[in-house]
Amino acid sequence: MKIVTKNLIKNYAKPKTPEVCVLKGIDLNINSGEKVALMGPSGAGKSTLIHILGLMDIPTSGDVFIDDIKVNSYDSTKLSNMRKENIGFVFQFHYLLADFNVLENILIPVWNDRIKKISRANELLEIMGLTSRKTHMPHELSGGEQQRVALARALINNPKILFADEPTGNLDRKTGEKIENLMFSICNQLKTTLVVVTHSEELAKSADRQLKMIDGKLI
Ligand SMILES: Nc1ncnc2c1ncn2[C@@H]1O[C@H](COP(=O)(O)OP(=O)(O)O)[C@@H](O)[C@H]1O
Ligand SMILES: [Mg+2]
Repeated sequence: MKIVTKNLIKNYAKPKTPEVCVLKGIDLNINSGEKVALMGPSGAGKSTLIHILGLMDIPTSGDVFIDDIKVNSYDSTKLSNMRKENIGFVFQFHYLLADFNVLENILIPVWNDRIKKISRANELLEIMGLTSRKTHMPHELSGGEQQRVALARALINNPKILFADEPTGNLDRKTGEKIENLMFSICNQLKTTLVVVTHSEELAKSADRQLKMIDGKLI
């Protein structure tokens, strides 16, 4: 899926507090299947931008188009359906549910259809090298393994777009690289559009394009 934005602005306003301008007019054009690395210093607005692109937050003004559909005119039901059907998200922290095992965690986004999705979950476990860990609980896994489960969970619905916000920021370099390689190879295979926020020049080189953000603007 293609992502286009026109003059995205995000401000945080609160009574008796100076307004914070986080996104200052973002114009983006990401092609279907393109893999983009989003870089820039902490506080630049990278997370805010991908939360808006991933339909988890709304801009103060400006438009987001996904496959030419203006999604910011959608109501919350349409937004959540669009998100469920097309979008996957991986965060810096895994956010696995502590009381569910590995297989169940991967099935969380499709819980009502989990029986039908078990074979895909098993395929993803195989790809992630976690088949022997499927009945383990999150606390029984290493950081890298937890993050591979989070990646499998993001992919359970074969999303058309995957957003990853510093997905390997909490891991050592070697473990992080393994996960990045998995992420890129799956996105290549499924022609998934990928937007990954990273501080790693190495990872950015694997992307088709690097975008740099400073102080709420793309440069
Ligand atoms: N709810 C909020 N109210 C006010 N400012 C916020 C809020 N959320 C984020 N910010 C500010 O937005 C800026 C960008 O944050 P973020 O998108 O997380 O940056 P990055 O991911 O590039 O580190 C920061 O200066 C942060 O303090
Ligand atoms: Mg961030």
